[in-house]
Amino acid sequence: MEVLAFNLNNAKAIYRLDSSGMMTALGGLAGQCVDACWNLTAGIEPPPIEAISHIVVTGLGGSAIGGDLLRVYCHDKIPVPVTVNRHYTLPSFVGRDTLVFAVSYSGNTEETLSAYEDARRRESAIVVITSGGKLKEMALRDGVTLITIPGGIAPRAATGFLFIPTLRVMERLGFLPGMEGSIATMIDHLKELWEKLKPETPITENLAKQLAQKLFNRIPVIWGTSGSTEVVAQRWKGQINENTKAPAYWNVFPELNHNEIVGFQVPGELLKKLHLVMLRDEEDHPRVQKRIDITKEIIKDRVGGISEVYASGEGDLSRLYSLIYLGDCTSVYLAALYGVDPGPVKVIDRLKQELQSCGPVCGLP
Ligand code: PA5
Repeated sequence: MEVLAFNLNNAKAIYRLDSSGMMTALGGLAGQCVDACWNLTAGIEPPPIEAISHIVVTGLGGSAIGGDLLRVYCHDKIPVPVTVNRHYTLPSFVGRDTLVFAVSYSGNTEETLSAYEDARRRESAIVVITSGGKLKEMALRDGVTLITIPGGIAPRAATGFLFIPTLRVMERLGFLPGMEGSIATMIDHLKELWEKLKPETPITENLAKQLAQKLFNRIPVIWGTSGSTEVVAQRWKGQINENTKAPAYWNVFPELNHNEIVGFQVPGELLKKLHLVMLRDEEDHPRVQKRIDITKEIIKDRVGGISEVYASGEGDLSRLYSLIYLGDCTSVYLAALYGVDPGPVKVIDRLKQELQSCGPVCGLP
């Protein structure tokens, strides 16, 4: 057992280390979803479009994960594909029959601005979700559907603002009937979960703190399943990178049974530094659940440790978000154990600044 320098039962110290209020924003997630569902999208008219054959969410980082959540949530619910685009340009199928969500929390991410202009050129139906910046200016200039969300928090702490509006637009377009009820159920579950995951809840009763302790001084490897917790695995990885400032890796069942599973033979000593988190959902395909059980037996002696965590709540949305919430909190507690401030992402800021000094992307203001 590792000797931990930081006591996760000291809630005040957790908040003190967290200069930009990442944990406070997590505590406000249910409120964010209420605001996004019943205030920010109340009067929104979706763009006029006769027939939609494809939906694209274009964005990066914390602003793209809402697109992945939408893609996975819609997987077995709507008759058209949802694609997430993390690039300067859009895929060639995008045209007048495509609904494009252009999402950037800051409104200044150059890849998203460029993809937005691409969507304009292709005369796609566009919905912009942003707190401001150039993207808001461009949306106002062009008269496209605009959902303005509150600023002032880190993009990755704003999933409620960034994701819920996409669900409401999809509901309004007739793709996802009854969304309001599902969102309300999820919000109730988030409130219950926060009581269990918040800094004031002691380690003995707090699964996120327990997981953080297991992941401390280990390389986290997160495994989800295709079409459901894959987005959660990706999110855990990103949150550990950005909040904890540590490496993390993710993959999905059943694909990892056909390659990654073989790679646990050497180097033995380093493999013991890995801690696997298996994201489980009792609603997952029964054969996939079997695969997870067998895989666990095959590799349990090869790695430093394995944790299995289960989705909870009623309905797909609650289940998905229950695991997202757990990962978000775990990454902040893990940051605390390393004495790291979870908020600032200086490396991303530096990269954006250096790119800016190279001049604007061709065709952008
Ligand atoms: O979490 C972050 O800060 C990043 O991943 C950003 O979301 C990413 O750089 C894109 O910026 P924005 O969300 O403002 O478009």
